[in-house]
Amino acid sequence: GKNAFILGIETSCDDTACAIVTKSGHVVSEAIKSQVSIHENWGGVVPTLAKEAHQNAIDDVVEECLRKAGVTDIGKQVSAVAVTVGPGLSMCLRVGVRKAQKISGEYGIPIVPVHHMEAHCLVARVKEEEWNANSEEEEEEENGGVAKFPFVALLVSGGHNVLLKVEGVGRYTILGQTLDDAIGEAYDKTARLLGLPVGGGGGPALEKLAKEYEEIVLEPRREQCRKETEQEAHITDEVFEKIVRKKVKNPIRFTVPLRKRKTCDFSFAGLKTNVRLAIEKHLGAVVDESIPEQKVLPSENWDGIENRETRAAIAHAFQTAAVTHLEDRVSRALEWVESDGVSPTCLVVAGGVASNQKIRKKLLQIGANHSIDVVFPKPSWCTDNGVMVAWAGIERLNLALGVEKPVPRNSEAFAKD
Ligand code: KG4
Ligand code: ZN
Repeated sequence: GKNAFILGIETSCDDTACAIVTKSGHVVSEAIKSQVSIHENWGGVVPTLAKEAHQNAIDDVVEECLRKAGVTDIGKQVSAVAVTVGPGLSMCLRVGVRKAQKISGEYGIPIVPVHHMEAHCLVARVKEEEWNANSEEEEEEENGGVAKFPFVALLVSGGHNVLLKVEGVGRYTILGQTLDDAIGEAYDKTARLLGLPVGGGGGPALEKLAKEYEEIVLEPRREQCRKETEQEAHITDEVFEKIVRKKVKNPIRFTVPLRKRKTCDFSFAGLKTNVRLAIEKHLGAVVDESIPEQKVLPSENWDGIENRETRAAIAHAFQTAAVTHLEDRVSRALEWVESDGVSPTCLVVAGGVASNQKIRKKLLQIGANHSIDVVFPKPSWCTDNGVMVAWAGIERLNLALGVEKPVPRNSEAFAKD
């Protein structure tokens, strides 16, 4: 009904984003302006350029969002403005906050400050079905969509790499985080070392190259092994894969990070070094990390078929170690939480890296092993967006207004059954 809309604004990094969400978590409209093309050539986000781009885009993005939602009178139709206040680039955050203050002052509606990571985490509770004005009665239904508390969240992107226990709004425990690079950053750096296109992130190109290795090298050998092991019905998938690997000449393999450390922390810097050493050893290429633009000085015949296969082998080795590392940490996180007497309802996986098919498949398996659902918010809500900010604002408002009661620690609701 009236005053049911919340406007969300996100400007913490390189996306200027806005969304309007209803109090029960239906998305009414979204608008976003990405800065990928601006930062592409710099090997990272340049704060001053990002700030300028946000300033140029913010009015249009908010305007577009209001128009799509059919909002003609902000003061009457929008009940609060949620805005990301951190963490992020302070120059960029300020652009969003100023815009929120302007709207707030002009129309007399409150501002809800939002924590960027909390927003990433809670967006898994937003309903994905289309909203239409006629479904207004549904507005009274229970708050929260897909993911119910308590859950475990894995946030993996170019800037974030964290495992959280989420017991309610504002009730987060960091189970583990990266000691150096985030996984997306490692994908990007590795992609650059392998001479892959990295505009908008090198992850997809690297995933594709690793898949090429699967198809060209591993699959034919699997075929062969299937025939040879036909009689041995007892062979597990793991053992089978080992036999397949033995058939590959000079396999490239990287050690899985932090195997001996029984924590939920992550590390990807060592893996990146392994990639560099493998490139130097197997491809004879010179890697000069002091040159950000062109880190690899390709050897002769860099693109030749044989070298292409070696590069694919390196991409595959990187992805295998990185994904196994994620699996190790997520399994342990679930064990920790369960042994704490908390039964998570699901595992939420968000962030740009969550679109990786290999990672999805492996995490779905882990979820199945623990008999819990794995929730992947849709890709456009995994990366930075306005919906997550608007929704986090609603969850915070509900908490403050007592709509959502904070559940005390170790209450029966959380006890293991
Ligand atoms: O969440 P996001 O859009 O931006 C932030 O970093 O906040 O995530 C972008 C990151 C990049 O590092 C990109 O390479 C990575 O997500 N990424 C992937 C894939 N798609 C995007 N990494 C691995 N596999 C993918 N398919
Ligand atoms: Zn983010």
